[in-house]
Amino acid sequence: MREKELHLGLIMDGNGRWAKARHLPRTAGHLAGLKSLKKVVLGAINNEVKYLSLYCFSTENWKRSQEEVSYLMGLFSSKIYSELPFYQENGIKILTIGDLSPLPEDAKKAINDTIEATKDNDTIILQLAINYGGQAEISMAVNKAIKNGETNLTPEVIRSYFEHPEVPPVDVIARSAGEIRLSNFLLFDSAYAEFVFCDKLWPDWDESDVTKVLEEYSHRIRRFGGVK
Ligand code: IPE
Ligand code: IPE
Ligand code: MG
Repeated sequence: MREKELHLGLIMDGNGRWAKARHLPRTAGHLAGLKSLKKVVLGAINNEVKYLSLYCFSTENWKRSQEEVSYLMGLFSSKIYSELPFYQENGIKILTIGDLSPLPEDAKKAINDTIEATKDNDTIILQLAINYGGQAEISMAVNKAIKNGETNLTPEVIRSYFEHPEVPPVDVIARSAGEIRLSNFLLFDSAYAEFVFCDKLWPDWDESDVTKVLEEYSHRIRRFGGVK
């Protein structure tokens, strides 16, 4: 057992490159990415990760071709709820962050039904970032706070208006596929996160990659501005 519950964030990148290397359409990469996702979730459970945040679709991903965006929306509607037995068997509670309002109705329904059906699970909290952007998250929270009459927008007050303030800040963010950037993921909560960047493309990830990330994290010394 860890002394503190761990929050791992994953920027799942490289689906397109994985498909391109196989002369397949980009969409085939997203489908393959879904398979690795299940393995990675099991790896997180085996490693006693309590919170797992997954970057599924950014506020910038709408810039992609209509074909690719519709395919991803189709995955949200057809694959999220259909994995219900997997969540129930493994004690997975699903939450989302991000603005779901522009999503197609069937995707929204599948997501909301999944959230409702898994609300009592508590082995692992799986937070799906869908139409999520760190900048939008901060700006939405500030707007809600102002509407609610707050006059002193301290970091704590702003954070209390996030969608899931009960989820603790992310401890470690890992990104696949060799890019060294955040791409607007968890901007506020990553203030003191550790970062692990891996070259392996997302569809090639499995349980062992979570273990590797956490092994690297275990050697980091976190000071949070203090002295150890
Ligand atoms: C990540 O893989 C999945 C999403 C952003 C939805 P990409 O689709 O970004 O794959 P690359 O970066 O083009 O290889
Ligand atoms: C970040 O990946 C978004 C997700 C993983 C959902 P991108 O592939 O969209 O990021 P950039 O464009 O390379 O920064
Ligand atoms: Mg990418």
